Parts: sequence; structure tokens; C-alpha cells
Amino acid sequence: MLQPSESHPAAGERRLTMEKVNPTPAGKKLAHPSEHAPRIFADTATITEIRPLKEAGIVNGVTTNPSLLKRAGADSWASANRIMKEIVEYMAPMPVSLELTELQPEKMVEQAKRLAGIGPNVVVKVPIGGYKAIDKSLDAHTGLKVLHRLWENDIRTNATLIFNSTQAFWAANAGASYVSPFLGRVADYLYKHDHPERTPGNSLYFIDDHKVPGNGLDKVANTAYVATAGARKDAGVRLIHEIVAVFNAYRIRTEVLAASFRNAVQVTECLLAGADILTVPAPILMGVADHPLSDEGMQAFVADSKVFDK
Ligand code: G3P
Repeated sequence: MLQPSESHPAAGERRLTMEKVNPTPAGKKLAHPSEHAPRIFADTATITEIRPLKEAGIVNGVTTNPSLLKRAGADSWASANRIMKEIVEYMAPMPVSLELTELQPEKMVEQAKRLAGIGPNVVVKVPIGGYKAIDKSLDAHTGLKVLHRLWENDIRTNATLIFNSTQAFWAANAGASYVSPFLGRVADYLYKHDHPERTPGNSLYFIDDHKVPGNGLDKVANTAYVATAGARKDAGVRLIHEIVAVFNAYRIRTEVLAASFRNAVQVTECLLAGADILTVPAPILMGVADHPLSDEGMQAFVADSKVFDK
């Protein structure tokens, strides 16, 4: 769906108003060519996944949530707190998002202060909505109220579970530092409803005039040869595009943190859409330097260079 020509020219301008991701150290002759690049975070609470990514300089931060902590092995508050502290300390000074689990505003603010006390690089994740789905007596605006209270308390926040651009707009107005639209879940949902016979997940794109090749294979988007051209449809990426357009138009400085990635193609598209931050699962990030044609090319270079050894 998103063609390179559709990328936001204003997105680059907006990045210039934000913190440098790759600052050039004082006294260095060669300025870093990508000072205002979008930031890449690892979407995981598993420290063994985070370490190699940080060592390779691939990530500038981490996002976690209760599901990721559970997946990382947390089975009590003690272990969840230990994991969160370990990640925050390991990543410092880079930002680490830790999510609130309390549901009452006063308790949420208390919990946010506790989490922020783990380190100055903590960003508190606040679910934007869904409170009434848990308990009908809860206030539907709990998330917005807490975002605003935390802004008043100088605590950086990440408004999570964003599924449309108005949620993002209101979160920004409440004072959120980041908004996290879940593009993969949007695309999964629509795909499932458009094509109930197929399983959601990786098959988010219709490539080449909407034909899905093979026997309904759901691996199209992960086809390693997929480049950035071709007809595609991804409602999740469109959501990112839309939020960036609104924030650009009104110079809103809340960073758009694209989340819930399913494949590397979405990474390219979110860069084109002007996302400020992309939080990506470790397996996708581990593969960023891979391409079958790179493999083939490298094998040829190495084989040909053997001739020089003779
Ligand atoms: O950062 C949000 C993310 O963890 C949600 O991803 O894969 O559960 O939709 P997913």
C-alpha cells in the first residue's frame, strides 16, 4: 500500500526537533550521517535477546509489557521486578518502557512513581483504554487521566494499546511522551475478518494484484525476496501513516512508536510512514542484515577471493 513516494517529507523535519539518536561526539571530524534517525527498540523482556542486539548497536531502547515479562519467565512480582530492574540497568541511559498493571488512578500513579524510581531511563507504559472491559465500574478515561497526572509529575509515558488515530491524538494531548499503535494487531484483525479461512499473523500483505501465491501459504510477507515495491495492503501501516500525518500537521512532539511488528517488510513501511520509533521483536531484528541475495553474493566474493591466496 505505501509507496516510497508516499513517505512524509515533513517527518524528517519533525525528527530534527527531537533528541539526536546518533550524536556526533565533540571533536570528531566525521559527523555521524544519521544523527536524527528513527529509533529502534527491542520489543522483548528477555535479556538474552536484548544483549546481542545492544552489542551490535541495533537498538536504542526496549519496550516490555506483562505478556513479554511472562514469556521471559516471570512468574511472581519478585521475578518480574528483578527482570525489569536488570533490563533498565543494562540499557541505561537508553529508554525502557515498563507497563502499569494497577487499574485505579491513585494506585496507578503510585506504581508509576515506583517504576520510574528504578532508573531515570524508565518510561511508564499506560494502557489508553480497555478499563471497562476489565471492570464495568472503572472509569473509561482512566488512561488519559493517569497520562496527564504523570506528565504533571514529570514522568515520561508511553500510551499503549493504541488502535486508532484519535486515541493517539488524545494521548498526546494528555501529555504522553510516546504513543504505541499496535499495527500488527490491526492488520491481523482485519485480515482475519476479510479472510476467515486463513490464519492471521504473517500473511498481512497481498502482493502482485492481491494474489496470494501457492496453496494459501501464509508466508508471503516473510518471503525473503520481498523488497519495497509492489501492491500491498496493510491497514496497520496505514494507522502509523495517519498518526504521523496528524502529528506533523500540528507539530505534536509526542513520538510515534510503531509496535506489534509481524515481519521485516512492515519495518520498511513504518520508516516510510515516518514513525519516530519502531519497537520490533528480537527475531526480526536478528535478521536485519540477512537477505538470500546477500548470502549468494558473499559466497561468490569469498570463493573468488580464494584465487588470490594461490
Ligand atoms: O509493544 C507492543 C507489542 O508487544 C504487542 O505486540 O505481538 O503482542 O501484538 P503483539
